[in-house]
Amino acid sequence: MAPRTIMDVDDKSLEGKRVLVRVDFNVSVSNGSVGEDYRIRMAIPTIEYLSRRGAKVILASHLGRPDGRDPDYTLAPVARRLQDIAGGAGIRVRFASDCVGPAVESEISQMGRGDILLLENLRFYKEEEANDGEFCKKLARQADIYVNDAFSTSHRKHASTFGAARLFDMRLAGFNLNKEVEYLSMMREKPPKPFKVIVGGVKIKDKIGALENLLPKADKVIVGGAVAYTFLMAKGVKTGKSLIDHERLPWAEKALAKYADKIMLPTDHVTAQSPADTSIMMVKGDIPDGMAGFDIGSETIEHFSEEVSRSNGAGMIFWNGPMGMFELRAFANGTINIAKSLALAYWRGAKTLVGGGDTLAALKKSGVAENEVSHVSTGGGASLRYLAGDEMPGLSVLDIK
Ligand code: 3PG
Repeated sequence: MAPRTIMDVDDKSLEGKRVLVRVDFNVSVSNGSVGEDYRIRMAIPTIEYLSRRGAKVILASHLGRPDGRDPDYTLAPVARRLQDIAGGAGIRVRFASDCVGPAVESEISQMGRGDILLLENLRFYKEEEANDGEFCKKLARQADIYVNDAFSTSHRKHASTFGAARLFDMRLAGFNLNKEVEYLSMMREKPPKPFKVIVGGVKIKDKIGALENLLPKADKVIVGGAVAYTFLMAKGVKTGKSLIDHERLPWAEKALAKYADKIMLPTDHVTAQSPADTSIMMVKGDIPDGMAGFDIGSETIEHFSEEVSRSNGAGMIFWNGPMGMFELRAFANGTINIAKSLALAYWRGAKTLVGGGDTLAALKKSGVAENEVSHVSTGGGASLRYLAGDEMPGLSVLDIK
């Protein structure tokens, strides 16, 4: 069941209407300036579409996890970046100093057709995360139509993603959310074959739900990053002082017993005593006591890359989480090579989907362009939850086609 999107309603229903668009502008901001702006860029098609149809576009987002009205978490820098990006298309963005209340209501009442207003950080009110009934009403009465284009927050049952949305008669999906759901649902229900999953990163506990659903469907599950050490220990390989999730060892053991032929684990490692240690040692097989693995080794890179880039011009590959501590040059090779192999698979005809906050940075570091991947998800946590089949309040609240 797909959500009803902004393209599924006729232009007349949008013209002159106040449309509240929940976007995810939770981006990195330092010294008043936005760092990676992928999430902002991905919201532009929806904003532009609505604005061109004469809607009054009211954007709402959270930024970080502030404790009350903390100026460090203002969305003002985001408004400036949005203006820079959208300005080229002749769009002017205004910024409201609050997200609810009389001043905002008055500002909205002065909006003309096509105008765009970004509201201040929703999380300046604790009522947002509490999904408070009064706060929901205040948000909802500021608009006529609700649009969710923030897939990456759709696992949250907050006022702006759920409670306020419920109060609208028309609850639509934006382009970005719709694209994310299309890809992820294809993967969850019936992925094109061969279907390969690459999983890395640190926290195995966040990935178990998704892995449980994907393992039966996948042809290969390639495991790197710290996640691999838990699997290796479960297999009886010595892992030194590598990061292990002891609580999840029994799960890893069971997964290995059931899917031994599908799960690919590293056979060699780049190890050191600590990330700061400059005397790096390449290790095949067991990792000695006192050493920890921080990246996959060259033999593993070869095997993994071959598996990832091998393509029959079809199939799907999902990548979540880096192969090592790629932020440090010494431990970046695994991630860089996997990113390049993924790009190769894409050029050879596979559908590729990348998720997880770090993975976009990893692509950049590898020199892989965003258009060398079929889709880069804006939400790592949300996509894993969706793949695990968890409740997604921000999706279930939307109208369906
Ligand atoms: C994210 O960055 O994953 C989303 O914006 C959700 O943020 P949250 O984890 O603070 O709810």
